[in-house]
Amino acid sequence: MSEKTSFYPELEKKIIPPRGKLGVLMPGLGAVATTFIAGVVLARKKLARPFGSLTQMQRIRLGKRTSPKFPLIREFVPLAGLEDLVFGGWDIYGDNAYETAVKAGVLPGTVLEKARPELSEIRPMPAVFDRNWVKKLDGRNVKAARNKMDLAEELVGDIERFKSRNKLSRAVMVWCGSTEVYSSPAPVHRTLSAFERGLKENAPEISPSMIYAYAALRTGTPYANGAPNLSAELPALTALAREKKTAIAGKDFKTGQTLMKTIVAPGLKARMLGLRGWFSTNILGNRDGEVLDDPGSFKSKEVSKASVLDAILDPGLYPELYKDVFHKIRIEYYPPRGDEKEGWDNIDIFGWCGMPMQIKINFLCRDSILAAPVVLDLALFMDLAARAGLSGIQEWLSFYFKSPMCRPDLKPEHDLFIQHLKLQNTLRILMGEEVLDHSGLDYYESRESLLELTGKGGRAGKS
Ligand SMILES: NC(=O)c1ccc[n+]([C@@H]2O[C@H](COP(=O)([O-])OP(=O)(O)OC[C@H]3O[C@@H](n4cnc5c(N)ncnc54)[C@H](O)[C@@H]3O)[C@@H](O)[C@H]2O)c1
Repeated sequence: MSEKTSFYPELEKKIIPPRGKLGVLMPGLGAVATTFIAGVVLARKKLARPFGSLTQMQRIRLGKRTSPKFPLIREFVPLAGLEDLVFGGWDIYGDNAYETAVKAGVLPGTVLEKARPELSEIRPMPAVFDRNWVKKLDGRNVKAARNKMDLAEELVGDIERFKSRNKLSRAVMVWCGSTEVYSSPAPVHRTLSAFERGLKENAPEISPSMIYAYAALRTGTPYANGAPNLSAELPALTALAREKKTAIAGKDFKTGQTLMKTIVAPGLKARMLGLRGWFSTNILGNRDGEVLDDPGSFKSKEVSKASVLDAILDPGLYPELYKDVFHKIRIEYYPPRGDEKEGWDNIDIFGWCGMPMQIKINFLCRDSILAAPVVLDLALFMDLAARAGLSGIQEWLSFYFKSPMCRPDLKPEHDLFIQHLKLQNTLRILMGEEVLDHSGLDYYESRESLLELTGKGGRAGKS
């Protein structure tokens, strides 16, 4: 048996150390963004723990199970520290981050008070906004310009000024803005030259989030998209990312109900239990819920959420178990609930002899509490990708998204456990460590293990 079965020495990277400050720029300083910033500020002051964040809390196994090491991910890969993050962003409303966080009501006032000075200093820059793309909102903190290219140039100026004013060595951008109306790629998105012509000619198919993504990439700023709208998922912008050697990732933070779906569905499939129907409904009353009350924005979200089951269950391979699954998703805007979303899932499954069974999930989650650590991890990992010289789509970050971006000729991976393995193994590969496949047979059947089991020494196990 060869010594290194799953090892990619040619993919190991020389990673530039994270010296200096890292800017985290967010279009959309709403509930998620301000909860994320507040949590980092509180963690810096040792007043809160960053639960939910892999970069801060998770350990990664290295080496054999007979002599494993479990360093923290943040000690294993060179990541920026929480104290090195500087926050900024844009919003159509002029409230500072403290005022927004109070209105969003995600964290209690007594907790926010402890981060008040830092949050109050963060004032959103005027946004690139177009009501045709988010019909339920209307704010005044908005840029005006002749055309979309001029708007992009203004964003480029904002990014550069933010970096120089805060003496930053690098920055990343994470879209935390509202969900835009559903759209599909058009000819103007096909090539970079068509896209740039479209910007100058105010092509209606170019949305604000695409303009932010373009400005980010122009300045070599990695761009991650937390909403389901297309944004950087366009051939033109993927090409620009490659040209500028900059990373992109998306789309749509995987948090409440879809997180649960991608935990439960792989389990049903692994045990070859069939599925007849999956009805998901939820109520939420925050601004995101209000935006999603518009059918155009809801369609973006629905498409993003719907792809998950088919991709995991693969009805093409298992028609008897998963063909014609009735999958329905509802989101109801219900103001009394604020950010405290409640989701219900009714899952109709079948087993041995076709006998029906049911699973009910009632998830009383807090949307922004689940999303905030995702923003943190994405910011830190996108910065890592930049310093490791990775560019274009970062599929290894699929773990964080409802609709993971991947190479157009590949199928996206939705199974949370495969996504997690992908993420951890990518970190191992970047650092020149052996990939772990967890098969384990080598602990029992390899020559070395047999010697060890019979007390004759040797080194056992790889996986
Ligand atoms: N919270 C979650 O669990 C979760 C999960 C997946 C995706 N998301 C997505 O993340 C995004 C943020 O969610 P949220 O709960 O913070 O919503 P939010 O409504 O509180 O915040 C979004 C902010 O974006 C601003 N905005 C809209 N268009 C803008 C533009 N063009 N430029 C700058 N700012 C703009 C809005 O004014 C608002 O303040 C939404 O798109 C949401 O669908 C959230």
